[in-house]
Amino acid sequence: MARAHETQIMTEVSEAEIAVHWKEEAHYLPPAKFIGQANLTDPAINQRFSLDRFPECFREYADLLTWDHYWHTTLDTSNAPYWKWFVGGRLNASYNCVDRHLRRHKNKAAFIFVPEPEDESHAAITYQELYVRVNEMAALLKDFAGLRAGDRVTLHLPMTPELPITMLACARLGVIHSVVFGGFSGEACGIRIADSGSRVLITMDGYYRNGKLLDHKPNADIAVATAQKEGQKVDKVLVWRRLRDRPATAAPMVDGRDFVVNDLLKNYAGDHVQPVSMPAEAPLFLMYTSGTTGRPKGCQHSTGGYLAYVAGTSKYIQDIHPTDVYWCFADIGWITGHSYIVYGPLSLAATGVLYEGVPTYPDAGRPWRIAQRHDVNIFHTSPTTIRMLRKAGPDEPKRYHHQFKHMTTVGEPIEPEVWKWYYEVVGKGQAVICDTWWQTENGGFLCSTKPALDSMKPGSAGPAVPGIFPVIYDEEGREIPTGSNKAGNICIRNPWPGIMQTIWGDPERYVKTYYAKYCKNPKSKDWRDWPYFAGDGATQAPDGYFRILGRVDDVINVAGHRLGTKELESACLTVPEVAEAAVVPVVDEVKGRVPEVYVSLKPGIAPSKVIQEKVVHAIETTIGKIARPKEVRIVPDMPKTRSGKIMRRVLAAISNNMDTGDVTTLANPDVVEQIRQMVQGAGRVATKAAPEDIKRFGDER
Ligand code: PRX
Repeated sequence: MARAHETQIMTEVSEAEIAVHWKEEAHYLPPAKFIGQANLTDPAINQRFSLDRFPECFREYADLLTWDHYWHTTLDTSNAPYWKWFVGGRLNASYNCVDRHLRRHKNKAAFIFVPEPEDESHAAITYQELYVRVNEMAALLKDFAGLRAGDRVTLHLPMTPELPITMLACARLGVIHSVVFGGFSGEACGIRIADSGSRVLITMDGYYRNGKLLDHKPNADIAVATAQKEGQKVDKVLVWRRLRDRPATAAPMVDGRDFVVNDLLKNYAGDHVQPVSMPAEAPLFLMYTSGTTGRPKGCQHSTGGYLAYVAGTSKYIQDIHPTDVYWCFADIGWITGHSYIVYGPLSLAATGVLYEGVPTYPDAGRPWRIAQRHDVNIFHTSPTTIRMLRKAGPDEPKRYHHQFKHMTTVGEPIEPEVWKWYYEVVGKGQAVICDTWWQTENGGFLCSTKPALDSMKPGSAGPAVPGIFPVIYDEEGREIPTGSNKAGNICIRNPWPGIMQTIWGDPERYVKTYYAKYCKNPKSKDWRDWPYFAGDGATQAPDGYFRILGRVDDVINVAGHRLGTKELESACLTVPEVAEAAVVPVVDEVKGRVPEVYVSLKPGIAPSKVIQEKVVHAIETTIGKIARPKEVRIVPDMPKTRSGKIMRRVLAAISNNMDTGDVTTLANPDVVEQIRQMVQGAGRVATKAAPEDIKRFGDER
């Protein structure tokens, strides 16, 4: 009976209402000057990468790499959906990103490091210098830390050259790195150390962020203690120094456990380490991301398939040439940074800008000063950063002489008016824009325009990239007709080389999360029976362009970063006074979405500011400041179905000033009105103008 009521409540959002929240826009043509120099101008790419040429089409990407042994099987599906790409092949990722460029490009900058303080000088690191530093670090990891191929190591590092150097040193040895975003708390890092089974943590003592030198070392101490509680002992903490002349931390070094990398490296000066020839399907790295349950998932990415895919998409979609100056303004601690700061661009011998700090420090002109100074011509960032820069300095880009040929957005939908500012003001009407849709699990882009071949449409990610065949299914697994503009769950029909191999240590969760929903035959070894479920709602317009509507699960996309509501809710429940917690997304002008927290208290406990602060503190320490809620609301009770399920969708409606719909069938309908008055005030009228992920948030599916 309760189920019937729930269904009734949920179906009030009809298909027709799932209309996109901005109108269809006109197309923009790529500038002729861009087309004239682009890597991909041959429309025959569509035939070369047609479905009947799958999977062999991806040879073209693999051929961008240098193999120690060529592979014999392009795609092995014998253990579907655990795909194996380029089987029989052997290669080393560090060799492909560094050594092989020395012959032609040793004197060329691999990275230009821009520290956040404006008075600190920028540093160009040539491919030769990168080679030397990667080798020395690899020697240290091998001899001092005893790391070998297949071992896992956790990196909790900020955006300085030491991060890619450490990653490439790991890759040289076949050691699997797991980079945890520097802004994550020590506890969050500790959980990931334990899950990956790392016995070595590599960190930095401090770094600059928004004008302050942050003390990062205490996070390592917390991380080690958390990992220990979870059953994983960390033997060594390797600490890079941010400053040349003094430590950036007051935290003590633990004798016999903590070591300063900069000191140790003196013992390895000039050492060379032979790159370990790894099977194509050996894992290159783990990248943790949020899902529906509280535990983060370690997405395992392969060496050969992943590297081929990021090299191919960097060449064709990012249009990177060795002569370009490319700046991807993401953090390497997220997948965008792995694929499109480190592995993709370096495999093409690119020059990349690496910026330590925040976009608006010390003012909103900073990115354009950096771009002007280094003559950056490819710029890559997120809608949140664009919105932030537009708000803080709408005319700032006009004051500088930078000139981009190509600009990318990634991570969230971009509103057409924000897109137009990016195009007209930042790009001065002369740059092509690629709106790239993909996920941590995917390794590289799934949807985007091919920059010289397809027109751009503000607010739409575009068609699929070569070799990717999306399909939109309804809840019952029926295909939604292509080009019908009807919403459903976007899936990819076929595997591709960049797709994750599994969830580290939890292969069943991998199948359950991404493949079980639309699998046509669980025994099948044919990839056609295993569409990949992305977890996003989407529509496809008659022109073939996809529009991503947001997550269909309990994930909130805050400033382009994925947070699981369950992770936040479990953090709230560590506060002793809290009985129940529910986290919902609220639309935010700059960050896209921010979390808002509802808690009810244990009997006899009175609401107070102190409890609200404890909840915020609990979230910041278990996850990090990125998860800081906009509000913590203490409510008398949670709205619940008669079966006791918390109706997060009703709370999301209240937080976003939307109509809550018919709630009379809930177990406690009165509480909805009480909460509504608390949040919206007595006289507010609901607007209903909310994006799809908010409308559907918390629906059972
Ligand atoms: O909801 C989609 C959104 O970001 C999610 C993936 O987040 P993450 O794994 O952190 O990776 C972000 C960067 C690759 C997706 O499920 N998303 C990503 N790109 C776009 C997007 N939503 C709309 N448009 C995009 N271009």
